[in-house]
Amino acid sequence: ASKRTTCSVATEPPPSTTEEPEMDLPKEIFLKEYKKPDYLFDSVNLEFQLGEDKTIVTSKIAVSPGTEGTSSPLTLHGRDLKLLSIKVNGKDLKSEDYTVDSRHLTVSRPPGGTFNLEIVTEIYPQLNTSLEGLYKSTGNFCTQCEAEGFRKITYFQDRPDVMATYTCRIEADKTLYPVLLSNGNLIEQGDLEGGKHYALWEDPFKKPSYLFALVAGQLDCREDSFTTCSGRKVTLRIWTPGQDLAKTAHAMYSLKAAMKWDEEVFGLEYDLDLFNIVVVPDFNMGAMENKSLNIFQSRLVLASPETATDGDYAAILGVVGHEYFHNWTGNRVTCRDWFQLTLKEGLTVFRDQEFSSDLGCRTVKRIADVSKLRTYQFPQDAGPMAHPIRPHSWTIFIPGAEVVRMYKTMFGASGFRKGMDLYFQRHDGQAVTCEDFYAAIQEVPPTPGQPVKEPMFIPIAVGLVDSTGKDMPLTSIYSDGMLQSLTSDGQPVFTTVLQFNKKEEEFIFNNIPEKPVPSLLRGYSAPVRLDSDLTESDLFFLLANDSDEFNRLLSVSCFKSSSLLLEIFNLRILAFLRWEAGQVLSRKLMLSLVADFQQQKTLALNPKFVDGLRSILRNTSLDKEFIAKAITLPGQGEIMDMMPVADPDAVHAVRTFIKKELALQLKDDLLSTVTNNRSSEAYTFDHDSMARRALKNTCLAYLASLNEPDTTELAFIEYKSATNMTEQFAALAALSQNPGQVRDDTLLDFYNKWQHDYLVVSKWFALQATSDIPGNVANVQKLLGHPAFDMRNPNKVYSLIGGFCGSPVNFHAKDGSGYKFLGEVVLQLDKINPQVASRMVSAFSRWRRYDESRQALAKAQLEMIVSANGLSENVYEIASKSLA
Ligand code: PHE
Ligand code: ZN
Repeated sequence: ASKRTTCSVATEPPPSTTEEPEMDLPKEIFLKEYKKPDYLFDSVNLEFQLGEDKTIVTSKIAVSPGTEGTSSPLTLHGRDLKLLSIKVNGKDLKSEDYTVDSRHLTVSRPPGGTFNLEIVTEIYPQLNTSLEGLYKSTGNFCTQCEAEGFRKITYFQDRPDVMATYTCRIEADKTLYPVLLSNGNLIEQGDLEGGKHYALWEDPFKKPSYLFALVAGQLDCREDSFTTCSGRKVTLRIWTPGQDLAKTAHAMYSLKAAMKWDEEVFGLEYDLDLFNIVVVPDFNMGAMENKSLNIFQSRLVLASPETATDGDYAAILGVVGHEYFHNWTGNRVTCRDWFQLTLKEGLTVFRDQEFSSDLGCRTVKRIADVSKLRTYQFPQDAGPMAHPIRPHSWTIFIPGAEVVRMYKTMFGASGFRKGMDLYFQRHDGQAVTCEDFYAAIQEVPPTPGQPVKEPMFIPIAVGLVDSTGKDMPLTSIYSDGMLQSLTSDGQPVFTTVLQFNKKEEEFIFNNIPEKPVPSLLRGYSAPVRLDSDLTESDLFFLLANDSDEFNRLLSVSCFKSSSLLLEIFNLRILAFLRWEAGQVLSRKLMLSLVADFQQQKTLALNPKFVDGLRSILRNTSLDKEFIAKAITLPGQGEIMDMMPVADPDAVHAVRTFIKKELALQLKDDLLSTVTNNRSSEAYTFDHDSMARRALKNTCLAYLASLNEPDTTELAFIEYKSATNMTEQFAALAALSQNPGQVRDDTLLDFYNKWQHDYLVVSKWFALQATSDIPGNVANVQKLLGHPAFDMRNPNKVYSLIGGFCGSPVNFHAKDGSGYKFLGEVVLQLDKINPQVASRMVSAFSRWRRYDESRQALAKAQLEMIVSANGLSENVYEIASKSLA
């Protein structure tokens, strides 16, 4: 009889993309009630007269009936607009022929057939602190139209399935606004009387209103070019205030890399002769993919070794890529309605993750993405904010990408690529649904060796490891009682993808020579939480396994070319697994220590765990960034998430205990790792140097947690001698773990050194805000009044207030001071910028996860917020939903 091994896995289903949303969204876009627009807009000609106290917008639209012979009223969206005139076919509409309320303009009886509509509105960008629509940032005009900002510019059918070609004529003072930009190609420009000038832009591609953009102001640009695969020369410009120009080199590198990658991996070429990126300091989100005129918040473009960390460099690469990739996934093929948001965001996040993986180290990138998923998404899915697709919340991007990734796992790299090709072939120029995407992907026949059973299943990649640490050859498997071959071209495989259709399923591996250690969910093949009966010794085995093969594979996975996607999938799994084994162990360990802490037992650390980490730390043949990740404990949030009642104090105490204990027991190894990883070479953004810095910084943080004179001295030396922000900031963070004079002095020294640099100052705010030092709420309260803080700048709000909400001990302070602080700030913020305020209020959304006294304190704040006068819809929606 053949030896058999079975595995059964209980999984959570991936986020569905088809259920009806629970959120109260504007009526007309409820998924089930989707109705095609009554009227189509064929072309839109916009004219802007930008002024200091008002801006006049003229919109000329060629309208045609969506359905033959319709005579239904034409309803346009509009907010905060002053209507100056409305004409149909050149004639002013009589007042009885239209109605206006605070949200709409309705033309009661449009003429049958096609007609021209001309609307003139007056708007006040200089007063617009919501940063949606047309607004001013440091003196320059800019726009943000996704999702529904265009209706703050002019009356319009402001929905993504209304696609039109646009022209945009901008008129403004030439001295104040020398640069005038919009989507597409510049076709005319010239001077006007009274010191004014104009520019006329034409975008040949049909687009929804949310992709419209305009920028006017004093900006300089870095110019470069990219020649596409078909030989088109594209001019690339990154626009920023002159003094920041030097800091745009990395963004330009990232853009060119993204353009090349999309051609190589997806066969997608850029479609215009010009691509612009504009940097603005005041921006609600990270960036925006407006057709050929991407707008970014400064943090995601500007970088120099002295002022930006490796994390910033990596974020810039990813986001520049992300916005560029939207040109095909989002712009050329767009969303029918906002419930299809994941169609563009999930797919584009998947694409940017793959891009960053290919340019950096695939394993390390996957580890980082999975950590992010665990930190942000699982808590949200468990809380009242769970939603199939919640429009306009960035957290929806991540599960969407995981779903796309599962499709790639299921169909293989080449099958997936064929499906993507079909998707573009079918839907270019259309506004479509997630189902259209899946239909295109699924239509492609499965690759041999990867049969597809059902359209919806959870792919669990599995390998079996033998006692020497090698992967066993897999030849066949019983599934549903049927024997299936697993070979590929007659050869055994080493990883197979099990397809789970039910909550519990049995798979029996055939011809297995010895008892294996199953390695499950390789590469994190599906976004699920997986429980298995792997024993602790199995896990320690996986953690300590360092066969030659393993090391060889790991190093290969870090040097690869994008054309090898399939092979890479097989290579990365072993390293990933080893990290995961460590994480499973750490989670188990932390949870049991939390229980000890709650029962007031003395805490003690399992020596095997210390040994496991020591062996990783000493293994000079492992990738350094991988070591850094492998010796990093799971975050406090992740552990709280696994508890029936989250106990921030206990989790914090335990994590601090383990950190110090590890630092104490591994002190010599940590010290030598820090010294061995110093470098006097100039900063470069490449995998090896980043890995070196990451490892050194992680070790330094451990050491400084000891708060002993020698370790503090070491961190201080690192702080003083650092020649780049990555190392300087890490040393500052290491030192600031311990309250006291050294901390205060170094923080002040850092501020004095960098007070002229707004992005570095934001980091300084964030570092203090996220601190776990006791009683930090008072410090954060004080920082609100700091001269460098500005409630109108989203980046500073996210750093200081958002940062504070991410610190479990202080935000969840027993006395409710953290909750009270946030409650007050949210009301203040709501008056300035409702979108930013609503993002902050969502920190309350999981209040039911805590003990009764915390629940009462948080609930009181939410109740205070919902009953406040003049509250915005954005905040009301989140706060009331949290209470429901
Ligand atoms: N679509 C933007 C992106 O992909 C994100 C965004 C959403 C920006 C909503 C503004 C408003 O980066
Ligand atoms: Zn996006």
